[in-house]
Amino acid sequence: MSLEPKQLIELARTARENAVAPYSHFQVGSAVECADGRVFTGCNVENSTYGLSICAERVAIFKAISEGARDFARIAVVAAAREPVRPCGACRQVISDLFGADAEVTMADLQGNFETMQVRDLLPLPFNRSFLY
Ligand code: THU
Repeated sequence: MSLEPKQLIELARTARENAVAPYSHFQVGSAVECADGRVFTGCNVENSTYGLSICAERVAIFKAISEGARDFARIAVVAAAREPVRPCGACRQVISDLFGADAEVTMADLQGNFETMQVRDLLPLPFNRSFLY
């Protein structure tokens, strides 16, 4: 049983309310659905030393990891933008590495537009663990 994209987006929208984005004023929310049905959400958290800021997607993913989840089905990300927000390169790498290339990424705006793509299409030719063996 899996959530519809709109349900995952709605959870991400709620998490977005908690964003700490005093520098960019760009609030982002994310929700990860695990294979066992659990859902973990995240928001972006910025820091006065800008480089220590973290994206909503990685907050959601790392929360899931720290609660023992290892098998992920899909992730949604939502922000107020003219079109569905795109995950940054760092988050694409983390999603690809931890979820696998066929993970589904749903990108959404607040107007109700959304698009789902596999991470293999967002990050072709990724670095992954196969290079380490
Ligand atoms: N951000 C995210 O949280 N996720 C994305 O997919 C794009 C960017 C955050 C990082 C930063 O806090 C703010 O949005 C502006 O880049």
